[in-house]
Amino acid sequence: MPLVNMKDMLEHAYENGYAVGAFDLVNLDFLQGILDAAEACRAPVILSLAESHFGHFDFDLLMPGVETAAQRASVPVAIQLDHGVDAASAVRAINRGCNGVMVDYSHLSWQENLAGTREVVRTARACGVPVEGELGYVPGVEGEDAERHPGEIAYTTVGEARAFVEKTDVDFLAVSVGTVHGRMKGKPKLDYQRLKQINEALGIPLVIHGGTGLSDDQFRRLITNGAAKINYYTALADAAGNAIRKNVQAARNKGYTSLVTGVRDAVSVEAERCMRLWGACGRAAEVLAQCRPWAPVEHLIIYNVNELDEKGVAEMMAEGRRVLSAIPGVREVLVGTAVKDEAAYQYSWLVRFCAPAVIDSYREHPDHVAFADTRFRPVAGERISIDYRIVDAEPQGPEEPPSGIAAYGVESRGAASGVGRTL
Ligand code: 13P
Repeated sequence: MPLVNMKDMLEHAYENGYAVGAFDLVNLDFLQGILDAAEACRAPVILSLAESHFGHFDFDLLMPGVETAAQRASVPVAIQLDHGVDAASAVRAINRGCNGVMVDYSHLSWQENLAGTREVVRTARACGVPVEGELGYVPGVEGEDAERHPGEIAYTTVGEARAFVEKTDVDFLAVSVGTVHGRMKGKPKLDYQRLKQINEALGIPLVIHGGTGLSDDQFRRLITNGAAKINYYTALADAAGNAIRKNVQAARNKGYTSLVTGVRDAVSVEAERCMRLWGACGRAAEVLAQCRPWAPVEHLIIYNVNELDEKGVAEMMAEGRRVLSAIPGVREVLVGTAVKDEAAYQYSWLVRFCAPAVIDSYREHPDHVAFADTRFRPVAGERISIDYRIVDAEPQGPEEPPSGIAAYGVESRGAASGVGRTL
């Protein structure tokens, strides 16, 4: 349950003067270490997956673990794509379970950044997913020495930030005020006055990338001036690396598990230090009480077909799975055939949406409309279609209904004439 709406989570932080950590994770040790920290100090947390790290892990394989860990956490959690490269990355991330997306066009021209970010907002908003844009350029690469990637810092200007947010309608804005990604030499000079003015002009949660290496005082001043989300990775990676180095020196048995012992704890210690410093600790209960849960929806159709043999039905279903699974906000498409010949309905579609917003955007999506009009409705006979919101299935005692799903609304009940507009 503790997956919560990320926009609500960050607005809570923004209004209450603290920042939520968005910690990039690269494996299960990081995932568990970050969540251990959040649980230990009762902090809301963002599990962040940076596209620049996708070479180190299989995103599609890791996401189910990330989602399961978030669902079983007792503190509020959001899952975000970090530095996605384009709108297709955002769709993939949403369809795999991210409930916040950041697509980074900040290295492009103003016009290209604007156009690209607008497209992402349009798509993600139709799925109920909030978007972080970035304006100005924070150089460097997470986990590496900033000097190895000496791009010029391009500071965000107040006027551009105002116009960018107005024109793109992003939910959060990452700004450049002097930080860099990765390890840096010396102490960065941060432009708090600029941040203050951007905050006054925008009034939305601001994001700071390149959290590693900033002092306690720098963090405090960033948060006082509107930073409600801080992205953090390199220091976690260094803590993990130090733990491994210690094991290399100490361990007699140098097998893999001996070498990575303590990585989870090292990540956790550093993440918890940040959560305390940024004022997120102890906020979990308020966030859970005040923020909307992130609630998926299922669209179920049971139906019969007219004038199509089994092979034809199988082909139609296979095509439907392929086409419909790619629609933004669709988590999964399952097709089924009745176990018993005498069942009133012989076939089923189960389409899992990431959020209720997708009920409408899916119905109107051109790929759905085309498939429904040309492949499904011409052969579909009697059918029932209904949307369900998944509810917490905690056992409530014998009086409670046994099902873990609640009716969201019967959408259609009809014949091949096409009552109802979905499929
Ligand atoms: P650091 O690696 O400098 O902490 O920055 C992380 C980051 O900004 C990820 O988006």
